[in-house]
Amino acid sequence: MQFELKQRGRSLMDFEVSARQTASRLQQQIELDLAAAGIDRATLPDDMDERHRVIDTALAGSPVFQARALLGEWCAKQHGRAAEQAFEEIRPDLTPLLERLREGATRLTVHAFDPPKYWSEIWFHRTRGGWDASDYNGFIHGELVHKKYVSQIFPGDIYGNRRLILRDLPRDDYARILEIGTSSGHHTSAIAEVFPNATISGVDPSLRMLEQAQRVGNEGGHAWDLHVGIGEDMPMFADGSFDLVTAYAIHHEMPPKAIAAIFAEAYRVLAPGGDMVMADVARTGSLDRLTAWRFDWTAKWGGEPFWRATAKLDLEPLARAAGFVDVRGYQPHPGRDPYIIYGRKPA
Ligand SMILES: C[S@@+](CC[C@H](N)C(=O)[O-])C[C@H]1O[C@@H](n2cnc3c(N)ncnc32)[C@H](O)[C@@H]1O
Repeated sequence: MQFELKQRGRSLMDFEVSARQTASRLQQQIELDLAAAGIDRATLPDDMDERHRVIDTALAGSPVFQARALLGEWCAKQHGRAAEQAFEEIRPDLTPLLERLREGATRLTVHAFDPPKYWSEIWFHRTRGGWDASDYNGFIHGELVHKKYVSQIFPGDIYGNRRLILRDLPRDDYARILEIGTSSGHHTSAIAEVFPNATISGVDPSLRMLEQAQRVGNEGGHAWDLHVGIGEDMPMFADGSFDLVTAYAIHHEMPPKAIAAIFAEAYRVLAPGGDMVMADVARTGSLDRLTAWRFDWTAKWGGEPFWRATAKLDLEPLARAAGFVDVRGYQPHPGRDPYIIYGRKPA
């Protein structure tokens, strides 16, 4: 989406990115300080709370550790606020475009549904007010937080990972594709790129995020069919109505029982022979103990209350319990995101 931030908003966002990059550099020094204190990946305790306690104690007098903690807290809390302020500066100029992009072939249908408490009562990512906090929160999340902050601070091509999980599938001719957890449309865009001839549907409880996905769809000339609702209960879709069900980065934002319910519902809406592929954060068990501690620490700052419980889950048994066969959970980049779970509904 083409737009220019004003000078103040641009510098606010740039500052957040440099603060977060500085925090990462301090992290490298912390690991050296830990090694100097005789603590390394192999000797850290298995239990995560205990691991935090050992590291907190060992580094209690370390100014680098304190500075890293302070910067981590600052970035977690401030990046969303910086994005809101940057948006307010351009809001009057941008609103006509944002409204115009709601018009087009991409449809958005609002259904009555019971929002799960884990979604409605938690302000993920330390946002003020959660996913639906404000009228243009979808734009703020998709274009400012994501493209001007998140994509700059995570290593590698985070959008390329979305295409990667789709290119690794057994077929290249899925005609009807459903995405669960569409949000502001980043994975949806990857689906449209990899499967240009498919009809694409999406579901997400956040109206504001889907409004942004609708803008992205219309801007790209797509006819996506978007629905406000939840992946655990999708009465708007008949049994067997999709050839592929996919999701990117949703599991770590829900309790394990919601993941099981989403697998069961994905199975129902898939046609016999259809595929499911979903991706989420790296499995804790695949990481060395120091890296797992760092991910856990960052998740705690970052307003991710379900990360620890879901990142350690092996999703294969849950997918099999829903009925999927040929189930495979794997990480294409060892020790890094994403973790991919694949399964097929028997023909
Ligand atoms: C991290 S975002 C997903 C990102 C997006 N898929 C992408 O590729 O950028 C998580 C999304 O999951 C949605 N979500 C949370 N619980 C859900 C549920 N039960 N069913 C469907 N979507 C859900 C949230 O509203 C949010 O938009």
